[in-house]
Amino acid sequence: MSKQNKSSVKVFSPATVANVACGFDVVGLALDGPGDEMELQISDAPGVRIIRVEGATLPLEAAQNVAGVALQAMLQEYAQPDLGVEVTIHKHIQPGSGIGSSAASAAGAVVGLNKLLGDHFPAESLVRFAMEGERLACGTPHADNVAPAIMGGFTLVRSYQPLDVIRLHTPEDLWVTVIHPQIEVKTSDARGILKQQVLLRDAIRQWGNVGALVAGLYQENYPLISRALEDVIVEPIRSILIPAFHELKLKCREAGALGGGISGSGPSVFMLSKGETNARAVADTMQQIYAPLGVDYKIYVSRISTSGVHEIQD
Ligand code: HSE
Repeated sequence: MSKQNKSSVKVFSPATVANVACGFDVVGLALDGPGDEMELQISDAPGVRIIRVEGATLPLEAAQNVAGVALQAMLQEYAQPDLGVEVTIHKHIQPGSGIGSSAASAAGAVVGLNKLLGDHFPAESLVRFAMEGERLACGTPHADNVAPAIMGGFTLVRSYQPLDVIRLHTPEDLWVTVIHPQIEVKTSDARGILKQQVLLRDAIRQWGNVGALVAGLYQENYPLISRALEDVIVEPIRSILIPAFHELKLKCREAGALGGGISGSGPSVFMLSKGETNARAVADTMQQIYAPLGVDYKIYVSRISTSGVHEIQD
């Protein structure tokens, strides 16, 4: 069977860090791990069927499942009414973790089906389909998790209407440390507490930082990246939801991190570092802060995935 018409595929879909401090709803990055695994199979019965979800309790009804609605949007545009797809999802990213659990399911699903369709759709269309999963998950079709999951590396959403997503350069030696406190923060709740207006003085500071972050990535200028990792709009409101957030930020910088902030809508907190040694020292610091708190947590140290969702073998 040729690559174009094979009938099943298995993919790995990575966790992602959205916002990356200053870029609320527009900047995101993909991790090497953790990530979900998904199997997709073309079937004779038209439409989308979620066969099984392992590792989390999620709806099997396609219209209530983020992978299901993303695939439905894709099939609608593919316009071959007889086409059917069956999906099995192995969740390794806990829902409500702040590292793009819903995005991983939606992104993995659309990239997987696209492989079965001979790469029919360009990446930006896949982002648009996967955004339907985010609409179902939190009420807003934001793209700052699904875009890096699909395209890999860092991505920037220049515009939502029309959708305009740019893949950015990833510096070679940039590492990510993430702590995931085992408490659930629903993205819809974390969005609901945000103010709808910002002060011009805060907006000026924020877009200065976003521009500097992008420049820092391209110049591989780590001190500039460090200065740009500041969020004066969203973090002051959301940080109250995260135990020991300010101590984490302060001590992780002292331990060698370039900086960081809330991962997506939380409760995970991410730090960027130059080099693995610093990233692991940051992980140790996170552990020292969280161990006495009585809150369970997981810590990940990862490079930035430049491939995003990719095919894996059984
Ligand atoms: N940009 C989104 C938010 C990401 O912060 O609400 C959610 O993971």
